[in-house]
Amino acid sequence: MIKTMIVFGTRPEAIKMAPLIKELQNDSNFDVRVCVTAQHRQMLDQVLEIFDIKPDYDLNIMKHNQSLYSVTADVILKFEEVLKKEKPDIVLVHGDTTTTFASALSAFYYRTKIGHVEAGLRTFNKYSPFPEEMNRKLTAALCDVHFAPTKRAKLNLLKEGIKEEDIFVTGNTVIDTLKYTVQKDYKFREPILNRIDYTKKVITLTAHRRENFGKPLENIFEAVANLADQFDDVLFVYPVHLNPNVRDAAERILRNHPRIILIDPVDVDDMHNLIARSYLVLTDSGGLQEEAPSLGKPVVVLRDTTERPEAVLANTVKVAGTDKHNIVDVVKRLLTDEEEYSKMAHAINPYGDGFASRRIKDALLYYFGYRKEKPEEFKGSDLYV
Ligand code: UD1
Ligand code: UDP
Repeated sequence: MIKTMIVFGTRPEAIKMAPLIKELQNDSNFDVRVCVTAQHRQMLDQVLEIFDIKPDYDLNIMKHNQSLYSVTADVILKFEEVLKKEKPDIVLVHGDTTTTFASALSAFYYRTKIGHVEAGLRTFNKYSPFPEEMNRKLTAALCDVHFAPTKRAKLNLLKEGIKEEDIFVTGNTVIDTLKYTVQKDYKFREPILNRIDYTKKVITLTAHRRENFGKPLENIFEAVANLADQFDDVLFVYPVHLNPNVRDAAERILRNHPRIILIDPVDVDDMHNLIARSYLVLTDSGGLQEEAPSLGKPVVVLRDTTERPEAVLANTVKVAGTDKHNIVDVVKRLLTDEEEYSKMAHAINPYGDGFASRRIKDALLYYFGYRKEKPEEFKGSDLYV
C-alpha cells in the first residue's frame, strides 16, 4: 500500500483536496492519512463538515490576524512531528498557501516524496499575488511529482526545468467538487440566500488578497458602492472573508447599503449554487476564476495579474485591476451592453472535466509502479496556451 499523507490548512485547499481524499480512500492501494494545519479554523471546519472529512491530525495553528512568519514556523515544526510518527511514502500538498510551502519544506527536510496538486500556476510577478507566487514556485522546487491542472501550467513547469516525466496534466479537482455541489433545485443553508430575488442582476463579490489590503481594497469597495448607487436592478452579495483586514474595511464602506448584502462566509455548496444563480462574479479569489467560467458566469478580476489566463483567453474573465474608475467602467459595460455580456457568458471548462482526482490517483499508481501505462492527460485546456 502507498502510505499517503494529505496536508492542507485553508478553505480553498480543503475544497480542492476533498474529492481527491475520497478517491484515494476508495482505492485499497492507498493508506490515506489526513493532516490539517488549520491555518484557517472556522472556514476550514465548514468544508470538513460538508465533505465529512475527519482529519487524523489537526495542528490547530491559527492565531488572530496571524503573520506569515508565525504560520510558516508553526507548520514546519508541528508537521515534523506528524512525519516522524507516520513515515509516509508520499506527502500531497495543494496550491500556493503558506501551509503548502511550509509543509512541503518540512516534508523535504524529512526526505520523503512530495506531490503537488494544482502545480505550475504562475504570474511571473514575485509580489502578485503575495506571497502565493513564491509559495508555489518554491513548492515546485521541493516536489517530486507535479499535478498540473492545465497544459499551460505544465509548460510553466517545463520552463523551470522540471522533468516532463514528473508532470501529469490532470484538470483541476475543483471541477470534481462542482459536480457534487451544484444542483438545479438547490435550497440554501444560509436563509438570506433563499430570500434573494434572483430575477435581479445578482453580483457575487469576494475579496481577500494580502496585496490588496489598504488602499486597493478601499478602491474595490468604493467602486462597488458606486455601482450599487447607480443601478437599482442590481444586488451585490458579499460573503465576507474572516480576515480582519478585510472585514474592517467591508464594514466601514459597504454596510447599510440597500443593494449590498454582507454575510459571513457560506458553505461551499451554498457558494457554488449562488454563483450558478448570479449574473456575474467580482473577485480577487483564485478558485472563483475557475468555478464561475465552468458555470457560464463572467468574472471581473480585482487584481492586476492572474495565474489563470486560460479563461481570459477564452474571454469569460476580464482583469480589471484595483483602480476604482476602471472597475466601475468594466462592470457598467457588462450591466448595460447585452452583446458584450453574452459574449462572456458561456460555459467553458479549460480547468477540468470532473475527473482530475481519478487522474491524480492513476498518476500516483503509475509513479509507484502499481500500473504500467502513464494515465491519459486532460486535454480540455490544450487550446488555451
Ligand atoms: C490564506 C492564504 C491565501 C488564500 C486564502 C484563502 C496565505 C499566506 N494566504 O489567506 O493564499 O487565498 O487563505 O482564503 O497562505 N481567519 C479567521 N478564521 C478563519 C480564517 C481566517 O478568523 O477561518 C482570520 C484570522 O484572524 C487569521 C486571518 O484571518 O489570522 C488571516 O488568515 P491567513 O490564513 O493568514 O490569511 P488569508 O487572508 O485567509
Ligand atoms: N467559498 C466558499 N464560501 C465563501 C466564499 C468562497 O465556500 O463564502 C469558496 C469558493 O467557491 C472557492 C473557494 O472558497 O471554492 C475560494 O476560496 P478563497 O477565495 O478564500 O481562496 P483562493 O481561491 O483565492 O485561494
